[in-house]
Amino acid sequence: MKIIRTVGEMQAFSDEARARGKRIGFTPTMGYLHEGHLSLVRASKADNDLTVASIYVNPTQFGPTEDLEKYPRDLARDQELLEHEGCEALFYPDNESMYPPGFQTELRVKSITDHLCGASRPWHFPGVALIVAKLFNMVKPHRAYFGQKDYQQARVIRRMVIDLNFDLEVVVCPIVRETDGLAMSSRNAYLSDEEREQAIVLSQALEEANEMYREGERDALKLKNRISLTIQRAPLAKIDYCEVVDGETIQPIERVEGTGVAALAVFFGKTRLIDNHILGEPWNLSP
Ligand code: PAJ
Repeated sequence: MKIIRTVGEMQAFSDEARARGKRIGFTPTMGYLHEGHLSLVRASKADNDLTVASIYVNPTQFGPTEDLEKYPRDLARDQELLEHEGCEALFYPDNESMYPPGFQTELRVKSITDHLCGASRPWHFPGVALIVAKLFNMVKPHRAYFGQKDYQQARVIRRMVIDLNFDLEVVVCPIVRETDGLAMSSRNAYLSDEEREQAIVLSQALEEANEMYREGERDALKLKNRISLTIQRAPLAKIDYCEVVDGETIQPIERVEGTGVAALAVFFGKTRLIDNHILGEPWNLSP
C-alpha cells in the first residue's frame, strides 16, 4: 500500500490512475479503524479498480470543548488493517497541507443541517463539508463511500456533491454493529465498562421503534417517546436529541409517510454516541 503525505503526490497518483482508465474508490476516515470503516473499504474494493482511504482528524469539524486532542489515534494498526484489506493507497496528510496559512474558505450546506447533529453541534457540518470537498479535489474519486451510521453526514455530502457538481457517485453503506447491537464507533473506546454495558439501550430503543413502525405506528411523537423511555432505563445515559425525521430533508415530521429515520445522540459521561435506523428496514449488520 502506498502511503501518501502531500496533496501534490495524491493528485499525481489519481491523475496517473485516471489516465490509465482506472476507476478510483475513496473512503475518507478519521482513523482508529474498526469493522464499520473496513466495510466501506471492502465495498470500494468490490466496485472499483483502485481504493484510496484517507486518515485525517479534521480540526474544523470539532467544537472548542470537544475531543480533537484526545481523539483516538493508532496509525500503525490502521495501516496494517488497510494493507490486509488490499487498499492500494493511504492518504495521510498533515494540518499544514490541509489548512495552510491564509486559508479563508467556508462551506455551508443549509436546511439539511438545521436539526439533529446540525442543531446541537452547529460548527460540525461546515467543517465536514469543507474537508470532504477538499479531499474530493485531492483524491479525485469516481465513487466515495460513507456509512449510514452518520446518516445526516451522508445526506449533507450527497447534497453538496449535487450542488457543487462533483463528478462522482456517493455510496452509502449499512451500519456495522457489535454483536449486542451497539453501532461501531471509534468513540466507543472512551466508554467505561459500565457505560459500555448500558450503551446497548441505544440500538434497543431504535429496534423497538422500528418494531412499532412495522406494526403500523406512524405517529412520530409516539415513536420518539418510546425511544426516549427506553434510553431512560440506562441511568448513565443523557439524551442530546432523539428525533424522527424525514429521510430526505432531515426535517422533523408528525407522521412517517415516505422514508422516516429515527435518529439519536446520547451522552455517556463525556462520550457522545449517535445511532439511527431507517424505519421499516430490516435490522442491520453485525460484522
Ligand atoms: P469517521 O468517524 O472516521 O467515519 C468514517 C466513515 O466511516 C464515515 O462515512 C462513517 O459513517 C463510517 N462509519 C463509522 N462507523 C460506522 C459503522 N459502525 N458502520 C458503517 N459505517 C461507519 O465520518 C468521519 O470520520 C468524518 O466526518 C469524515 C467524513 C472522514 C470527514 O472528516
